[in-house]
Amino acid sequence: MSTVTPVLDLRGVHKSFGPVAVLHDVDFVAYPGEVTALVGDNGAGKTTLVKCIAGIVRLDRGQYLFEGRPVRITTPREASALGIEVVHQDLALCDNLDIVQNMFLGRERRRGMVLDEAEMEEVAADILAGLSVRMSGSVRQPVWALSGGQRQTVAIARAVLGDSKVVILDEPSSALGVTQTRQVLELVRRLADRGMAVVLISHNMNDVFAVSDRIAALYLGRMVAQVRTADVTHAQVVELITAGRSETLEARRDGRPGGRRSAGPLRAGAVPEAAEPPA
Ligand SMILES: Nc1ncnc2c1ncn2[C@@H]1O[C@H](COP(=O)(O)OP(=O)(O)OP(=O)(O)O)[C@@H](O)[C@H]1O
Ligand SMILES: [Mg+2]
Repeated sequence: MSTVTPVLDLRGVHKSFGPVAVLHDVDFVAYPGEVTALVGDNGAGKTTLVKCIAGIVRLDRGQYLFEGRPVRITTPREASALGIEVVHQDLALCDNLDIVQNMFLGRERRRGMVLDEAEMEEVAADILAGLSVRMSGSVRQPVWALSGGQRQTVAIARAVLGDSKVVILDEPSSALGVTQTRQVLELVRRLADRGMAVVLISHNMNDVFAVSDRIAALYLGRMVAQVRTADVTHAQVVELITAGRSETLEARRDGRPGGRRSAGPLRAGAVPEAAEPPA
Protein backbone atom coordinates (compact mmCIF):
# COMPACT_ATOMS: atom_id res chain seq x y z
CA MET A 1 0.00 0.00 0.00
CA SER A 2 1.17 3.45 -0.75
CA THR A 3 1.40 6.34 1.67
CA VAL A 4 1.26 9.05 -0.99
CA THR A 5 -1.90 11.11 -0.65
CA PRO A 6 -3.29 12.56 -3.86
CA VAL A 7 -3.33 16.35 -3.93
CA LEU A 8 -6.63 16.28 -5.76
CA ASP A 9 -9.13 13.55 -5.05
CA LEU A 10 -12.64 14.01 -6.43
CA ARG A 11 -15.22 11.34 -5.88
CA GLY A 12 -18.63 10.90 -7.42
CA VAL A 13 -18.77 14.38 -8.88
CA HIS A 14 -21.93 15.46 -10.71
CA LYS A 15 -22.51 18.65 -12.65
CA SER A 16 -25.45 19.73 -14.77
CA PHE A 17 -26.05 22.94 -16.65
CA GLY A 18 -29.82 23.29 -16.49
CA PRO A 19 -31.24 20.04 -17.81
CA VAL A 20 -27.94 18.98 -19.40
CA ALA A 21 -25.84 16.64 -17.27
CA VAL A 22 -22.20 17.27 -18.15
CA LEU A 23 -20.38 15.26 -15.47
CA HIS A 24 -21.76 11.99 -14.14
CA ASP A 25 -20.31 10.34 -11.06
CA VAL A 26 -16.76 11.34 -11.94
CA ASP A 27 -13.76 10.24 -9.86
CA PHE A 28 -10.46 11.96 -10.47
CA VAL A 29 -7.10 11.95 -8.69
CA ALA A 30 -3.85 13.79 -9.23
CA TYR A 31 -0.61 13.07 -7.40
CA PRO A 32 2.27 15.36 -6.47
CA GLY A 33 5.28 15.04 -8.74
CA GLU A 34 3.22 13.65 -11.58
CA VAL A 35 1.70 14.84 -14.81
CA THR A 36 -1.86 13.58 -15.15
CA ALA A 37 -3.23 13.88 -18.66
CA LEU A 38 -6.96 14.51 -18.86
CA VAL A 39 -8.21 13.36 -22.25
CA GLY A 40 -11.57 13.07 -23.99
CA ASP A 41 -13.35 14.19 -27.11
CA ASN A 42 -14.78 17.68 -27.67
CA GLY A 43 -17.55 18.23 -25.17
CA ALA A 44 -16.54 15.27 -22.96
CA GLY A 45 -16.46 17.55 -19.92
CA LYS A 46 -12.74 18.17 -19.43
CA THR A 47 -12.94 21.94 -19.10
CA THR A 48 -16.01 21.66 -16.88
CA LEU A 49 -14.17 19.27 -14.54
CA VAL A 50 -11.25 21.67 -14.39
CA LYS A 51 -13.59 24.58 -13.66
CA CYS A 52 -15.11 22.58 -10.80
CA ILE A 53 -11.64 21.89 -9.42
CA ALA A 54 -10.77 25.58 -9.69
CA GLY A 55 -13.95 26.88 -8.07
CA ILE A 56 -15.22 28.57 -11.23
CA VAL A 57 -18.14 26.19 -11.56
CA ARG A 58 -19.88 24.76 -8.52
CA LEU A 59 -20.25 20.99 -8.09
CA ASP A 60 -23.84 19.79 -7.79
CA ARG A 61 -22.70 16.89 -5.64
CA GLY A 62 -19.72 14.72 -4.91
CA GLN A 63 -16.73 14.84 -2.62
CA TYR A 64 -13.69 17.02 -3.09
CA LEU A 65 -10.59 16.14 -1.06
CA PHE A 66 -7.51 18.33 -1.17
CA GLU A 67 -4.41 16.69 0.26
CA GLY A 68 -6.75 14.20 1.88
CA ARG A 69 -8.99 16.77 3.56
CA PRO A 70 -12.56 17.48 2.45
CA VAL A 71 -12.89 21.01 1.10
CA ARG A 72 -15.66 23.14 -0.34
CA ILE A 73 -14.29 25.37 -3.04
CA THR A 74 -16.80 27.85 -4.38
CA THR A 75 -14.62 30.62 -5.78
CA PRO A 76 -11.38 30.76 -7.77
CA ARG A 77 -9.88 32.71 -4.89
CA GLU A 78 -10.43 29.78 -2.53
CA ALA A 79 -8.83 27.41 -5.02
CA SER A 80 -5.91 29.77 -5.45
CA ALA A 81 -5.45 30.04 -1.69
CA LEU A 82 -5.00 26.26 -1.57
CA GLY A 83 -2.40 26.46 -4.33
CA ILE A 84 -4.52 25.46 -7.32
CA GLU A 85 -3.78 27.43 -10.48
CA VAL A 86 -5.29 27.06 -13.93
CA VAL A 87 -3.96 28.14 -17.29
CA HIS A 88 -7.23 28.38 -19.17
CA GLN A 89 -8.08 27.14 -22.63
CA ASP A 90 -8.96 30.66 -23.71
CA LEU A 91 -5.61 31.98 -22.62
CA ALA A 92 -6.18 35.28 -20.89
CA LEU A 93 -3.23 37.60 -21.05
CA CYS A 94 -3.50 41.35 -21.48
CA ASP A 95 -1.79 42.26 -24.73
CA ASN A 96 -1.07 45.82 -23.80
CA LEU A 97 0.65 44.93 -20.54
CA ASP A 98 4.21 43.69 -20.22
CA ILE A 99 5.34 40.28 -18.92
CA VAL A 100 5.74 41.43 -15.32
CA GLN A 101 2.37 43.20 -15.27
CA ASN A 102 0.66 40.11 -16.65
CA MET A 103 2.29 37.81 -14.12
CA PHE A 104 1.26 40.02 -11.19
CA LEU A 105 -2.12 41.12 -12.50
CA GLY A 106 -4.54 41.19 -9.59
CA ARG A 107 -1.84 40.36 -7.06
CA GLU A 108 0.54 43.26 -7.44
CA ARG A 109 3.19 43.69 -4.79
CA ARG A 110 3.16 47.01 -3.05
CA ARG A 111 5.52 48.99 -0.93
CA GLY A 112 3.29 51.25 1.12
CA MET A 113 0.90 52.89 -1.35
CA VAL A 114 2.97 52.37 -4.49
CA LEU A 115 3.62 49.30 -6.60
CA ASP A 116 6.95 47.67 -5.94
CA GLU A 117 8.02 47.46 -9.56
CA ALA A 118 11.60 46.47 -8.82
CA GLU A 119 10.53 43.61 -6.59
CA MET A 120 7.97 42.31 -9.12
CA GLU A 121 10.48 42.55 -11.94
CA GLU A 122 13.05 40.61 -9.97
CA VAL A 123 10.59 37.89 -8.96
CA ALA A 124 9.31 37.56 -12.53
CA ALA A 125 12.82 37.22 -13.90
CA ASP A 126 13.69 34.69 -11.18
CA ILE A 127 10.65 32.56 -11.90
CA LEU A 128 11.30 32.51 -15.63
CA ALA A 129 14.95 31.66 -15.00
CA GLY A 130 13.94 29.01 -12.46
CA LEU A 131 11.75 27.42 -15.08
CA SER A 132 14.73 27.56 -17.44
CA VAL A 133 12.75 29.80 -19.75
CA ARG A 134 14.75 31.94 -22.09
CA MET A 135 12.88 35.05 -23.17
CA SER A 136 14.47 36.92 -25.98
CA GLY A 137 14.27 40.41 -24.58
CA SER A 138 13.24 42.00 -21.35
CA VAL A 139 10.49 41.09 -18.92
CA ARG A 140 9.26 44.60 -19.62
CA GLN A 141 8.22 43.88 -23.20
CA PRO A 142 4.48 43.89 -23.86
CA VAL A 143 3.06 40.42 -24.41
CA TRP A 144 1.63 41.32 -27.83
CA ALA A 145 5.20 41.15 -29.05
CA LEU A 146 5.64 37.54 -27.90
CA SER A 147 5.20 34.33 -29.84
CA GLY A 148 2.45 31.87 -28.92
CA GLY A 149 4.87 29.66 -27.03
CA GLN A 150 6.30 32.59 -25.10
CA ARG A 151 2.80 33.79 -24.21
CA GLN A 152 2.01 30.31 -22.97
CA THR A 153 5.14 30.37 -20.88
CA VAL A 154 4.14 33.68 -19.30
CA ALA A 155 0.73 32.22 -18.48
CA ILE A 156 2.37 29.19 -16.88
CA ALA A 157 4.86 31.35 -14.99
CA ARG A 158 1.92 33.39 -13.72
CA ALA A 159 0.29 30.18 -12.54
CA VAL A 160 3.33 29.09 -10.55
CA LEU A 161 3.95 32.52 -9.07
CA GLY A 162 2.34 31.69 -5.77
CA ASP A 163 3.03 28.58 -3.76
CA SER A 164 1.25 26.40 -6.27
CA LYS A 165 0.67 22.75 -5.55
CA VAL A 166 -1.54 22.04 -8.52
CA VAL A 167 -1.16 23.51 -11.97
CA ILE A 168 -3.83 22.71 -14.53
CA LEU A 169 -3.20 23.44 -18.19
CA ASP A 170 -6.22 23.35 -20.47
CA GLU A 171 -4.87 22.56 -23.95
CA PRO A 172 -1.67 24.56 -23.66
CA SER A 173 -0.21 23.49 -26.97
CA SER A 174 -3.24 23.58 -29.25
CA ALA A 175 -2.05 26.66 -31.12
CA LEU A 176 1.68 26.03 -30.96
CA GLY A 177 4.29 24.87 -33.44
CA VAL A 178 6.53 21.86 -32.97
CA THR A 179 9.39 23.58 -31.18
CA GLN A 180 7.13 25.69 -28.97
CA THR A 181 5.08 22.65 -28.04
CA ARG A 182 8.24 20.84 -27.06
CA GLN A 183 9.26 23.78 -24.87
CA VAL A 184 5.90 23.92 -23.14
CA LEU A 185 5.97 20.15 -22.56
CA GLU A 186 9.44 20.38 -21.08
CA LEU A 187 8.17 23.11 -18.80
CA VAL A 188 5.22 20.92 -17.79
CA ARG A 189 7.63 18.11 -16.94
CA ARG A 190 9.81 20.44 -14.92
CA LEU A 191 6.86 21.61 -12.82
CA ALA A 192 6.05 18.00 -11.94
CA ASP A 193 9.69 17.26 -11.19
CA ARG A 194 9.56 20.12 -8.68
CA GLY A 195 6.81 18.23 -6.87
CA MET A 196 3.70 19.88 -8.27
CA ALA A 197 0.70 17.93 -9.42
CA VAL A 198 0.24 18.93 -13.04
CA VAL A 199 -2.99 18.24 -14.89
CA LEU A 200 -2.64 18.53 -18.64
CA ILE A 201 -5.63 18.56 -20.95
CA SER A 202 -4.63 17.66 -24.47
CA HIS A 203 -6.05 16.22 -27.67
CA ASN A 204 -2.57 15.38 -28.90
CA MET A 205 -1.69 11.77 -28.09
CA ASN A 206 1.98 12.33 -28.83
CA ASP A 207 2.09 15.08 -26.22
CA VAL A 208 0.14 12.98 -23.75
CA PHE A 209 2.48 10.02 -24.15
CA ALA A 210 5.57 12.18 -24.13
CA VAL A 211 4.92 13.89 -20.85
CA SER A 212 2.29 12.20 -18.69
CA ASP A 213 2.64 9.66 -15.89
CA ARG A 214 -1.06 8.94 -15.76
CA ILE A 215 -4.01 9.27 -18.10
CA ALA A 216 -7.60 9.97 -17.10
CA ALA A 217 -10.14 9.53 -19.91
CA LEU A 218 -13.54 11.19 -19.94
CA TYR A 219 -16.23 9.97 -22.31
CA LEU A 220 -19.57 11.80 -22.47
CA GLY A 221 -19.10 13.11 -18.96
CA ARG A 222 -18.05 9.79 -17.42
CA MET A 223 -14.55 8.84 -16.29
CA VAL A 224 -13.97 5.64 -18.22
CA ALA A 225 -10.37 4.96 -17.19
CA GLN A 226 -7.53 6.25 -15.06
CA VAL A 227 -4.37 4.37 -15.89
CA ARG A 228 -0.62 4.67 -15.75
CA THR A 229 0.63 5.90 -19.11
CA ALA A 230 3.22 3.12 -19.22
CA ASP A 231 0.43 0.55 -19.05
CA VAL A 232 -1.50 1.60 -22.16
CA THR A 233 -0.95 2.07 -25.87
CA HIS A 234 -1.89 5.05 -28.07
CA ALA A 235 -4.52 2.89 -29.73
CA GLN A 236 -6.11 1.97 -26.41
CA VAL A 237 -6.34 5.60 -25.34
CA VAL A 238 -7.88 6.54 -28.69
CA GLU A 239 -10.47 3.79 -28.13
CA LEU A 240 -11.24 5.14 -24.66
CA ILE A 241 -11.71 8.63 -26.08
CA THR A 242 -13.84 7.66 -29.07
CA ALA A 243 -15.78 4.66 -27.75
CA GLY A 244 -15.59 4.99 -23.98
CA ARG A 245 -13.92 1.61 -23.64
CA SER A 246 -11.01 -0.42 -24.91
CA GLU A 247 -11.40 -4.14 -25.41
CA THR A 248 -7.69 -4.86 -25.41
CA LEU A 249 -7.28 -2.91 -22.18
CA GLU A 250 -10.11 -4.84 -20.58
CA ALA A 251 -8.59 -8.08 -21.86
CA ARG A 252 -5.27 -7.25 -20.28
CA ARG A 253 -6.97 -6.48 -16.97
CA ASP A 254 -8.56 -9.90 -17.17
CA GLY A 255 -5.09 -11.40 -17.46
CA ARG A 256 -5.15 -12.00 -21.19
CA PRO A 257 -2.27 -10.71 -23.31
CA GLY A 258 -2.37 -6.99 -24.08
CA GLY A 259 -0.13 -4.11 -25.10
CA ARG A 260 2.48 -2.61 -22.83
CA ARG A 261 4.65 0.20 -23.89
CA SER A 262 7.88 1.77 -22.81
CA ALA A 263 8.17 5.14 -21.14
CA GLY A 264 7.96 8.29 -23.28
CA PRO A 265 10.99 10.47 -23.75
CA LEU A 266 10.01 13.22 -21.34
CA ARG A 267 8.50 11.13 -18.65
CA ALA A 268 10.38 10.92 -15.39
CA GLY A 269 11.89 7.51 -15.04
CA ALA A 270 12.39 8.97 -11.60
CA VAL A 271 8.76 8.80 -10.51
CA PRO A 272 9.22 6.72 -7.37
CA GLU A 273 7.36 3.48 -6.94
CA ALA A 274 6.05 4.93 -3.70
CA ALA A 275 3.94 7.26 -5.82
CA GLU A 276 1.95 4.27 -6.97
CA PRO A 277 -1.47 4.55 -5.36
CA PRO A 278 -3.31 1.50 -4.12
CA ALA A 279 -4.76 -0.43 -7.04
N1 LIG B 1 -21.89 27.15 -18.99
C1 LIG B 1 -22.43 26.13 -19.68
N2 LIG B 1 -23.74 26.05 -19.88
C2 LIG B 1 -24.31 25.03 -20.56
N3 LIG B 1 -23.60 23.99 -21.08
C3 LIG B 1 -22.26 24.02 -20.91
C4 LIG B 1 -21.60 25.08 -20.20
N4 LIG B 1 -20.28 24.81 -20.20
C5 LIG B 1 -20.13 23.65 -20.86
N5 LIG B 1 -21.30 23.17 -21.28
C6 LIG B 1 -21.51 21.92 -22.01
O1 LIG B 1 -20.88 20.91 -21.30
C7 LIG B 1 -20.30 19.94 -22.18
C8 LIG B 1 -18.86 19.74 -21.83
O2 LIG B 1 -18.14 20.91 -22.15
P1 LIG B 1 -16.60 21.10 -21.81
O3 LIG B 1 -16.23 22.47 -22.21
O4 LIG B 1 -16.37 20.70 -20.41
O5 LIG B 1 -15.96 20.02 -22.80
P2 LIG B 1 -14.43 19.73 -23.12
O6 LIG B 1 -14.20 18.29 -22.83
O7 LIG B 1 -13.55 20.70 -22.44
O8 LIG B 1 -14.39 19.95 -24.69
P3 LIG B 1 -13.23 20.57 -25.65
O9 LIG B 1 -12.27 19.46 -25.91
O10 LIG B 1 -13.98 20.93 -26.89
O11 LIG B 1 -12.62 21.74 -24.97
C9 LIG B 1 -20.54 20.47 -23.58
O12 LIG B 1 -21.62 19.77 -24.12
C10 LIG B 1 -20.87 21.92 -23.37
O13 LIG B 1 -21.73 22.39 -24.36
MG1 LIG C 1 -12.30 22.21 -23.10
